[in-house]
Amino acid sequence: MAHDLSRPLDPFNDEDSNTTPNPHIDQIVQARLSRRGLLRGALGGAGLVGAAGLTACASTGQGAVASPLGSLGFKPVAKSMADMVVVPEGYTATIVYALGDPLSASTPDFKNDGSDTAFDQRAGDHHDGMEWFGLDAQGKPSRTASARGVIAMNHEATTDQKLSSFFLHANGGASTLPRPASEIDKELMIHGLSVVELQNDGKRWAYQKASPFNRRVTTMSDAVIHGPARGSEHLVTRYDPTATKARGTLNNCGSGKTPWGTYVSGEENWFGYFFRDAQDDDRRKKDKQVQALVRYGRKAGAASRHGWESGGSDERYARWNNGALAASAQDDFRNEMNTFGYVVEIDPYDKTQAVRKRTALGRLGHENCTFARAVAGQPVVAYMGDDARGEYIYKFVSAARWEAADAEPANRLAAGDKYLDKGTLYVARFKDDGSGEWLELSMDNPVIAGSSYFEFKNAADIAVFTRLAADAVGATKMDRPEWAGVNPKNGEVYITLTNNSNRTPAATDAANPRSYTDLKNGKEQKGNVNGHVIRLAETQPTASAFKWDIFLFAAEAGADKSTINLSNLSDENDLSSPDGLVFSQATGLCWIETDDGAYTDQTNCMLLAAVPGRVGDGGTRTLTHGNRTVTTHAGKPQTPATLKRFLVGPKGAEITGITETPDGRALFVNIQHPGENTNMADIGNPAKYESHWPASVGYGVGQRPRSATIVITKNDGGLIGS
Ligand code: FEO
Ligand code: CA
Ligand code: CA
Repeated sequence: MAHDLSRPLDPFNDEDSNTTPNPHIDQIVQARLSRRGLLRGALGGAGLVGAAGLTACASTGQGAVASPLGSLGFKPVAKSMADMVVVPEGYTATIVYALGDPLSASTPDFKNDGSDTAFDQRAGDHHDGMEWFGLDAQGKPSRTASARGVIAMNHEATTDQKLSSFFLHANGGASTLPRPASEIDKELMIHGLSVVELQNDGKRWAYQKASPFNRRVTTMSDAVIHGPARGSEHLVTRYDPTATKARGTLNNCGSGKTPWGTYVSGEENWFGYFFRDAQDDDRRKKDKQVQALVRYGRKAGAASRHGWESGGSDERYARWNNGALAASAQDDFRNEMNTFGYVVEIDPYDKTQAVRKRTALGRLGHENCTFARAVAGQPVVAYMGDDARGEYIYKFVSAARWEAADAEPANRLAAGDKYLDKGTLYVARFKDDGSGEWLELSMDNPVIAGSSYFEFKNAADIAVFTRLAADAVGATKMDRPEWAGVNPKNGEVYITLTNNSNRTPAATDAANPRSYTDLKNGKEQKGNVNGHVIRLAETQPTASAFKWDIFLFAAEAGADKSTINLSNLSDENDLSSPDGLVFSQATGLCWIETDDGAYTDQTNCMLLAAVPGRVGDGGTRTLTHGNRTVTTHAGKPQTPATLKRFLVGPKGAEITGITETPDGRALFVNIQHPGENTNMADIGNPAKYESHWPASVGYGVGQRPRSATIVITKNDGGLIGS
């Protein structure tokens, strides 16, 4: 989701609830407790090892890249403001699956004029994270198939200016309350997930409209609560007083593929969809839920993004009013918001099974969820970011140890139960000396069990109020953690920190060292305007400590190389607001996508390819902010040989969601919200739309812009990036 601050009702980047003084909180107590934590580990309680003796090569059997590319063979794409997708010479981008495309034989073609219905049988809006799951010629799951497969995909949000998803309604819809139920009914269905079959017939890629694998999951689909929050008093709703079921998934952003072959998806900016009236704090008698609601971005009096709560008394609308309105939690939807904010899992090959909410991975503004390579006999480990200003980076370590047979399980979601429902969550603290530690978020940590900041009674409280647990242990506030990716060659973990307008010079630290002023159309932008990519090296994924450096400082090529453009970027590779980040399992290249609003006076959003190095391949850099000096740890400077622009998207779009076929010869990329800066008032005048893509290049009818999946192939059939 783009974060356009010029749009006053955009609830996304407004999320700004981390007012803690972390990381400076209670450091003396922390030092004492971390010694206790180490002791507990040594006694076998936590099963973790320290980071002493870090070497360049992790000891986890990494190195499984099929066709490693040590260089970038393509000619870089220039920055572009054209309303089209630009890829390098010798490559072709083909649109395969756009908003509204029918997912069954009986669903009418998409008219793209605001009159379409039946969105529970069509591609949803705002395509985001996605993953490839192969099918063999007989239609059976295959880890190696590259010509036929299903893609599971997130449909994060929808293009709006004020309340209405205006491209979805004939006249743009209602921008005042109450909203018509008929409009809300459409909007409820364009969010969620889809699963869609794709095939390459030897000549071209196409999605399969009538495939039995095609599926939609929406805000109204069945979901089952798994993990420590199952049955918690904080998840009791009128819909399910037993707190074991919930409805739907929402604002699904980044994705992941589990070692057992399922799809996981992070619920990100779900809080913005809930309404809370101004009296709700008083009605709740300012209980601990009030503290949590504020910490998760819902102050009393908060308006909802689309006004869905205004559609009438039916539960499908009433559930978006988060107020304590009735006598008890089982009579209203005061806890409905607590049923969102999780990593959710589906079996992409089995549409009969409901979504499972994996609450052990914490309740955050989840971006993606990426797994370390699974090693027999070792826990399964996943890395995750919480995308809001000043939020944290997390790691989950399963209680169960990986069994190789689970790579092909008889029941994929049962394997998910085994590895994702029991385990320990950690949050990262970065130290100025280039080391860091993972702080345990469990009742075994006395900082949490004895917290005076927030009352944690049990593991469910930590799963539901994860941000407060991370506050309590003194995690490091980061510049909006987005996607994480694990380098298949050495196990190092890369995390994009997209930008942070709150990062003042006084609040800089070694891991978030920049705060500066940049101009866009003559207007000042402040903070960490362009973002960076940090990376961690652990002796093994279960380690309690890490070393870190900053792989890449995003910047404009023309920015000062001693204060802003610290990675020596040039016209071939300058970028702003890194967001999606994925390592190719086929080639080992690191793909970086942008969701930018800072450099968009010069270029649309883009995709770049990088040849990764390793933590420690650069040196220290010292930055001066007035009378404050910050020394950071920078990876080696970039050149066009190590980082190169591969794609630039159409107007108004972010580039997100990236996956590949196992042979590395087809790369799927999502183009999200082209034309999102269109004024709703111009809905009747297509000439004024910011973008007309993809119809403008021959995909589908009408002139309204549509989020879409493209597939990129090399004309000579070669590896993508070669
Ligand atoms: Fe959905 Fe943080 O991007
Ligand atoms: Ca600028
Ligand atoms: Ca994102």
